[in-house]
Amino acid sequence: MRGLVLFVLLALMGVGVGLMLIRPQPLSESDIAGITGDAKRGQAIFTAAGCASCHYRPGATDDEKLVLAGGQRFASDFGTFIAPNISPDPVHGIGNWTLAEFGSAVMRGVSPDGSHYYPAFPYTAYALMEVQDMADIHAYILTLPASDTPSAAHEITFPFNNRLAAGAWKFLFFDPQFATPESDDPQVTRGRYLSEALAHCGECHTPRGALGNLDMTRWLAGAPNPTGSGNIPPLTPGQLEWSAEDIAFYLETGFTPSYDSAGGHMAAVVENFSKLPPEDRAAVAAYLKALPGG
Ligand code: HEC
Ligand code: HEC
Repeated sequence: MRGLVLFVLLALMGVGVGLMLIRPQPLSESDIAGITGDAKRGQAIFTAAGCASCHYRPGATDDEKLVLAGGQRFASDFGTFIAPNISPDPVHGIGNWTLAEFGSAVMRGVSPDGSHYYPAFPYTAYALMEVQDMADIHAYILTLPASDTPSAAHEITFPFNNRLAAGAWKFLFFDPQFATPESDDPQVTRGRYLSEALAHCGECHTPRGALGNLDMTRWLAGAPNPTGSGNIPPLTPGQLEWSAEDIAFYLETGFTPSYDSAGGHMAAVVENFSKLPPEDRAAVAAYLKALPGG
């Protein structure tokens, strides 16, 4: 009997230690102290980060893409995730969220009620963002139209439907660090920020391990296409044999040097980058050219 009690106590302690290891770690008030978002500045950061590409409603065109009603489906090995409404609607969107709540979602993967988000929401990249840039995105989103479309529940199966599974995943793999070392060249450093913290190129172009974690030892080395057809091409020098000008031109127009046009999920990335200043496209190109490999 005493053995059983001891066993139950130890098991509870195990669960307790486990829960402590995976406890949500939101942004703190001191992280955002003195920060005020600038909506005008936020537009370009929001565009580079590709927030609308996932959060506009399926089938939206042109300006409708700025209505962040949610509803797009993202299939994975763990089930289908459905992007939520992040428009400024106070009930169905984020209109009533504080800056700390918004920042905790985007940069820590923690919801206002303290549960974990799944990494289908690429906060693993956004964690590298400057807090000011996050605040500017927040201010910009608040200027966009509200939508009262309710967010849909994800279609994921046991045990992944429990958000503690996302917490365990974060404990194992969420380690916000740039994948490449800081460069002496400010253009490459800017390209690294755009590519790794905002545009999350690695989410598609880096291969994954068994639990959906990015294989950081093969950064941007190309990956099987999650849609099941073909491969997402490698971007490392020696694999991608394009000049910096070719890369910048592709990000602006979608045309490859052989005049194929960007398809699949890359089309959305090009749509976003075509709206950014030429210096940003040149910076991403310089970053890719400076990657190790070749
Ligand atoms: C690759 C697709 C994708 C991109 C890009 C993306 N999101 Fe999301 N986002 C999601 C998914 C999927 C969820 C749901 C995650 C969950 O429920 O665990 C989500 C959840 C959220 C939430 C929480 C909403 C809620 O109701 O709890 C916020 C806020 C959010 N995203 C903001 C952003 C912002 C801001 C950006 C750009 C900086 C962005 N997202 C980019 C897919 C994306
Ligand atoms: C949402 C997934 C996704 C993201 C994010 C993404 N890409 Fe891509 N990328 C693709 C796919 C898919 C293709 C293949 C396009 C095609 O088949 O036309 C591609 C193709 C490319 C190509 C053409 C390579 C070739 O050999 O044809 C380049 C260059 C490229 N991406 C650069 C980038 C950069 C730089 C970023 C980040 C700024 C990025 N991609 C972000 C999915 C993505």
